[in-house]
Amino acid sequence: MKKLKNKDLISVADLSRDEILSLFCLSEKLKKKGKKLLKGKTLAMIFEKSSTRTRVSFETGMYQLGGQAIFLSRDDMQLGRGETIRDTAMVLSRYLDGIMIRAYTHSSVLELAQYSTIPVINGLTDQSHPCQALSDFFTILEHKKNLKGLKLGYIGDGNNVANSLLLASSILGSDICIASPQNYSVNKEVETKARDLAQKENSRIILTQDPCEAAKDADVLYTDVWISMGQENEKEERLKIFRDYQINEKIMKLAKKDVMIMHCLPAHRGEEITAGAMDGPHSAIFDQAENRLHVQKSILCHLMG
Ligand code: CP
Ligand code: NVA
Repeated sequence: MKKLKNKDLISVADLSRDEILSLFCLSEKLKKKGKKLLKGKTLAMIFEKSSTRTRVSFETGMYQLGGQAIFLSRDDMQLGRGETIRDTAMVLSRYLDGIMIRAYTHSSVLELAQYSTIPVINGLTDQSHPCQALSDFFTILEHKKNLKGLKLGYIGDGNNVANSLLLASSILGSDICIASPQNYSVNKEVETKARDLAQKENSRIILTQDPCEAAKDADVLYTDVWISMGQENEKEERLKIFRDYQINEKIMKLAKKDVMIMHCLPAHRGEEITAGAMDGPHSAIFDQAENRLHVQKSILCHLMG
């Protein structure tokens, strides 16, 4: 197994196409047969926000690889009482083999990585969710057998998950069409980076306000919550603004017959997705959730092995 060129995994754009495919290759092997590749290694998991999948899949993943994980809530750490990220990074680097962090601001993760001598993995920030997008493209590859040229239609908020999907599709050569309301599209810097990466792989990027354009002939339809963690005070406004940005049976008719429905979870049935779409035969949503475990185990091995 070849180590990744970067010490950390902060953004999907830290990885080349070959590195992602090599991650997928080990993910597939680990999914078939467990191997204790991280015996005696310890990962700390710092959480500033809630989590079900990320926490449980990373913790179980470390256990299955023969190592261990320590759950740290920011509020229980001295970080929550004003200890600097720099000092925290320097101390944790003396004890551990890796850190996974879920943080409110992307800059906190960058700072942690800057001062850590051990790998830092981004477990979601306001800007990105790389482990999610990588697991999702692994799931798409499993179902569709190919990534080049297929169309992912994303309908909803141009949030952390959308940003990471945009980068992943650009690197892997898929086409992506993201439909979001005006002023709720993806991050501008991420868009510029993705457009640059997309040229190399001939990947097409379309940003639109029209959900039908995203759904038209899509191989994959993807959505995420209208209100992300930290945006609770915008709830009423967002419920109105996003009303037409829903994956439902009507919009699914515009997509290809064998369209795959995706959602990173947690979901709000009746808001961004209907129960029929989520629980129907096209849904790959729980495969996606499962694959977080397999892909993250591969990431851990590539960074900490
Ligand atoms: N999709 C995802 O990251 O889920 P959690 O918030 O439960 O970790
Ligand atoms: N966009 C969502 C993703 C949750 C996994 C959030 O940030 O809350």
